[in-house]
Amino acid sequence: MTGAGRGIGAATARELGRRGFHVVVNYRSDSEAAQGVVRDIEDGGGSALAVRADVTDAAAAAALVHDHGPLDALVCNANIAPPFAPVAELPWETFIGKVDGELAAVFHVTQAAMRNLSTGAGIVYVSSIASETTRPGAAAHSAAKAALEAFARHVAAELGGEGVSVNVVAPGVVRTEGSAAALHPAAIDRITRTSVLGRMLEADDVAALIAALAAGDLPGLAGARIPLDAGQSVIGQYAPAS
Ligand SMILES: NC(=O)c1ccc[n+]([C@@H]2O[C@H](COP(=O)([O-])OP(=O)(O)OC[C@H]3O[C@@H](n4cnc5c(N)ncnc54)[C@H](OP(=O)(O)O)[C@@H]3O)[C@@H](O)[C@H]2O)c1
Repeated sequence: MTGAGRGIGAATARELGRRGFHVVVNYRSDSEAAQGVVRDIEDGGGSALAVRADVTDAAAAAALVHDHGPLDALVCNANIAPPFAPVAELPWETFIGKVDGELAAVFHVTQAAMRNLSTGAGIVYVSSIASETTRPGAAAHSAAKAALEAFARHVAAELGGEGVSVNVVAPGVVRTEGSAAALHPAAIDRITRTSVLGRMLEADDVAALIAALAAGDLPGLAGARIPLDAGQSVIGQYAPAS
């Protein structure tokens, strides 16, 4: 479980722990947060281990997988923080840094895992609705997540014959530390008003879907991209008849 010290990753790690997985709680820098997730899992009767590794680094990602395999599930979730700026003002280095980081964070771990997976394992990539939406300043984030999804489809095709399910979860805005800076009161109000459920998405909502996919609860799915947005896209299309 990459990027599991907080946010969606931490919620998913806890859910996988409840389901009986031995969870490798990967993090990059915040050891205290990751140890807290491990304690939560152990307090619930599960088993887990916190492992520091920058998954954009090929050697660190390979060691993460090899030291803890064979894997029954792999969740690629680490958050590569997106820059927000119009294309006209976006330095190439900033743009390509996000795309490169997003892909590196899934490529190295996936390639190592392909040689170290249990039969029937599930792989889940955490993308974003941003891969298919057009919002001011989000070009780098959109491009990076769209590239991640293209990569995931090819992994699904390569591993499908080996009984490994590979799918993508694409959340809308979720209340986490990673999204906190963008979630000023007006934004929360807009998101809540334009959601079928009338509320924000929480990390536990996303964790429930990721864990179900990782555990193979949805056996008909392969190479799928599942949007999870509390119904925001439905409201967006629900224009009154004119
Ligand atoms: N929050 C949203 O609104 C939202 C919406 C759609 C999609 N998503 C996607 O959901 C995923 C998680 O987002 P989040 O909001 O839960 O993130 P978050 O709250 O910022 O947490 C990010 C986690 O990723 C870890 N991490 C960052 N870079 C890493 C690296 N190179 N190697 C290993 N771990 C790394 C962090 O570890 P440290 O703290 O130790 O550095 C932390 O545990 C991301 O892929 C994001 O794009 C989020």
